[in-house]
Amino acid sequence: MELIQSPVELRARLVGAASVGFVPTMGFLHDGHARLIERASQENERVVVSVFVNPLQFGAGEDLSRYPRDLARDQEIAEQHGAHLLFHPQASVMYPEGFTSRIELGGPGEGWEGASRPGHFSGVATVVLKLLNLVSPTRAYFGEKDWQQLAVIRRVVRDFNLSVEIVGCPTVREPSGLALSSRNSYFTAEQRERAAILSRALRAAQNAYAKGERLSKRLLDTARMVLMSERELTLDYLALVDENLRPIEVISRPEGARLLIAACLFGVRLIDNMPLSEN
Ligand code: PAJ
Repeated sequence: MELIQSPVELRARLVGAASVGFVPTMGFLHDGHARLIERASQENERVVVSVFVNPLQFGAGEDLSRYPRDLARDQEIAEQHGAHLLFHPQASVMYPEGFTSRIELGGPGEGWEGASRPGHFSGVATVVLKLLNLVSPTRAYFGEKDWQQLAVIRRVVRDFNLSVEIVGCPTVREPSGLALSSRNSYFTAEQRERAAILSRALRAAQNAYAKGERLSKRLLDTARMVLMSERELTLDYLALVDENLRPIEVISRPEGARLLIAACLFGVRLIDNMPLSEN
């Protein structure tokens, strides 16, 4: 596997490839990222992983400067799971002097993370558009862990007629149920165990749904009851939404419906989501 910093070199390495799979990341790779890379290598001749901590998607007071980084480890993991190229551009290459454009989003980017983190999805969409243009992949792989991000990217691809297939991949979890995240490295071992409460709350709502509850409010109350047992937790939002990320009141079509949660625990902001039933 080759480490590449320059867009020109990246393009040169990909000339003539029959198919290119692309996995954009912010690094500090874990098993969730590894699964995306594996899937990309099963489905494409060449696989590019990008590691770029995108300043545009961090708000003032967020964790840009302390976001975990370990490029040497990222290289090993990417290579082990089948990547051919690791693209690691400098911020000055992605955003040179005079860079001023941003993607403006509506629709799925509006509520939830979009409301709690103004400018976040605009920053995500802008960097993903740039990366997709630089890599020109056949397919790009994103995790369901970031459900709303996946919806935003699908919308951008559709709205801007990008010729790439977006592949969504299931969330990888620890045995406790905690969704893997680079940000979990901020936790001590004990805090990490306690952070599994988010997934336990969503599972409780799934169980209530399985037992026949169809009112969104009651399902969410069930999840909220679980969350109340953790005094260190501050809930940001808990919702049941449709495929366009709009709140559902009464469940008539469970397909596409998703439970979303965001909460702060021990000073770390966590998000998670699950379908109503895992089938
Ligand atoms: P990052 O958080 O590094 O995630 C990179 C990709 O890995 C995303 O598609 C994310 O959804 C996926 N991922 C993260 N944790 C996962 C898990 N536990 N299971 C499955 N997939 C998981 O998301 C970003 O970076 C950035 O916003 C990016 C898209 C790279 C733009 O900067």
